[in-house]
Amino acid sequence: MADFFNNGWSLFVAISTVLSILACFVVAWLQSRAKIPPPVNGVVESTGHIWDEDLRELNNPVPRWWLYLFYITCVFGMVYLILYPGLGSFSGSLEWSSSNQYSREVARVDEVSAPLFADYLSKDITQVAANSEATAMGERLYLTYCSQCHGSDARGARSFPNLADNDWLGSGDPAYIKNTIINGRNAVMPAMAAAIGNTEADVEAVAHYVLSLSDSEHDPSLAEAGNAKFAVCAACHGPDGAGKVLVGAPNLTDDVWLYGGSIQSIKHAINNGLNNQMPAFGDLLGEGKAHVLAAYIWSLSQPAESTPQ
Ligand code: HEC
Ligand code: HEC
Repeated sequence: MADFFNNGWSLFVAISTVLSILACFVVAWLQSRAKIPPPVNGVVESTGHIWDEDLRELNNPVPRWWLYLFYITCVFGMVYLILYPGLGSFSGSLEWSSSNQYSREVARVDEVSAPLFADYLSKDITQVAANSEATAMGERLYLTYCSQCHGSDARGARSFPNLADNDWLGSGDPAYIKNTIINGRNAVMPAMAAAIGNTEADVEAVAHYVLSLSDSEHDPSLAEAGNAKFAVCAACHGPDGAGKVLVGAPNLTDDVWLYGGSIQSIKHAINNGLNNQMPAFGDLLGEGKAHVLAAYIWSLSQPAESTPQ
């Protein structure tokens, strides 16, 4: 309330609003006093406006029923402005706000669904994945919170991993998936050009070597030259390029690419490094929803017979 009186603009808006409503009252009241003017020499008084040759605008007061509606509207407006926010920054005596209402509704739904989630939480993620009601809920959660990045079919896009192909940056077991949803992921690969010699030819050679790891189209002599320089990459991607789950460095030998796998994308990664983040959803979703989501995601990449629907 103190805030309301100390805020000049808010006060200005509030006073203007109240004055406007009072002015409406006054106008209506003045109208209620007006009488139908008596005819002068048998001619009814009019405003003098004539349309379509013979349509005269009379000067009668507005009808009573209309006036009463007008009064009711003004009173309704006043009562509304006392109860609900509308007068400057005054929050209304009911303290209603859309975000309050939203939080109340969320709390109510959470209360109703708490036993359901408690039940799911008491079960193993693979068990939850076998429950078609739970995976249907997981799918709805997925479409709401995850599909913007991973795609509505969970097949990902450039820099957003495919979640349905059973090829994982991490271990891919149910606990890993749940942990990723709750805590997010942060993948950082430093720019490596300086470490491998810094010339365009060096970068080209290592990129061809990377392509050779997955038997993708490459130039064998360039790949040969790149092989020796791959040692610095091995620290993260492993000596054979098969990746290291702990550092989040992907397997470079399986021809599954997060960035497309073209020679340009590989050179770009070496020259500029990579920085990729999966946001943490733990606070937003809570453990119950993360559990159900993990079951859904895990089920996507399982062969059909292992997840009875
Ligand atoms: C803002 C974009 C974004 C949203 C939203 C998002 N993710 Fe991700 N997610 C990513 C990125 C980027 C990665 C890859 C991080 C990396 O490179 O390590 C990722 C990785 C993952 C992984 C690990 C994949 C692997 O191969 O190991 C899982 C599982 C995952 N996300 C699930 C989800 C789920 C479930 C949701 C919804 C709650 C979600 N993501 C929402 C961007 C997003
Ligand atoms: C400090 C650890 C580290 C080093 C050293 C490193 N990388 Fe990486 N690399 C990563 C990580 C982490 C990712 C995953 C980035 C992501 O998830 O977006 C990655 C991703 C890549 C990718 C993209 C793979 C795809 O699926 O599209 C390529 C290509 C790559 N690295 C090549 C190299 C080469 C070549 C070197 C050596 C010159 C190298 N990396 C050195 C950590 C490293």
